[in-house]
Amino acid sequence: MEQLKRKIAEDGTVLSDEVLKVDSFLNHQIDPELMLAVGEEFASLFQSEGITKIVTIESSGIAPAVMAGLKLGVPVIFARKRQSLTLTENLLTASVYSFTKKTESTIAISASHLSKDDKVLVIDDFLANGQAAKGLVSIIEQAGAKLSGIGIVIEKSFQSGRKELDELGIRVESLARIASLAGGKVTFLEEVRS
Ligand code: G4P
Repeated sequence: MEQLKRKIAEDGTVLSDEVLKVDSFLNHQIDPELMLAVGEEFASLFQSEGITKIVTIESSGIAPAVMAGLKLGVPVIFARKRQSLTLTENLLTASVYSFTKKTESTIAISASHLSKDDKVLVIDDFLANGQAAKGLVSIIEQAGAKLSGIGIVIEKSFQSGRKELDELGIRVESLARIASLAGGKVTFLEEVRS
């Protein structure tokens, strides 16, 4: 998606060979116009799948997921990372290890919002090692729902997540694929191939 790649090139900051900061439009301040365009792109990619629910994870997955939900006309559920006062029973959970933060956390979704009749699109802001995505896939499986695919805003293709999801036979659509952050420079996968 050219508009997104331009934004990453112009406003993203490479913090290290592994980490890209996009706080000005995705992870802290949010660019609503860009998020709407991102949502439209996901909606068009998964239009023919008969999606009934979108599942994401708090907090940065919510903006692109809501825009995709708006365009597909379906509800959006976000997995919680912290205990909620009101979300206390009937929970589907998965354990997620973050290689970046070296922490293990439990994510949860109420079983009352997912059923075996649902066709689910998972959306997240970043794909790094794929642990969050796998946790969401596990929760969807526990609900007996069908996973139609995963939409990612920014994929770091040099980390293991994409490969692992491909190996599980999951359809993954990433709107920007980053081949490398080496030398403080963002190199997109297409530039490496061409
Ligand atoms: P994984 O799920 O793919 O295995 O990712 P990992 O554990 O490595 O990442 C943990 C958190 O860091 C996630 O956000 C993920 O989106 C984010 N992240 C990973 N790589 C980058 C990066 O290069 N840049 C930025 N900006 N974020 C990255 P989180 O902690 O859940 O944060 P949030 O959703 O509450 O914002």
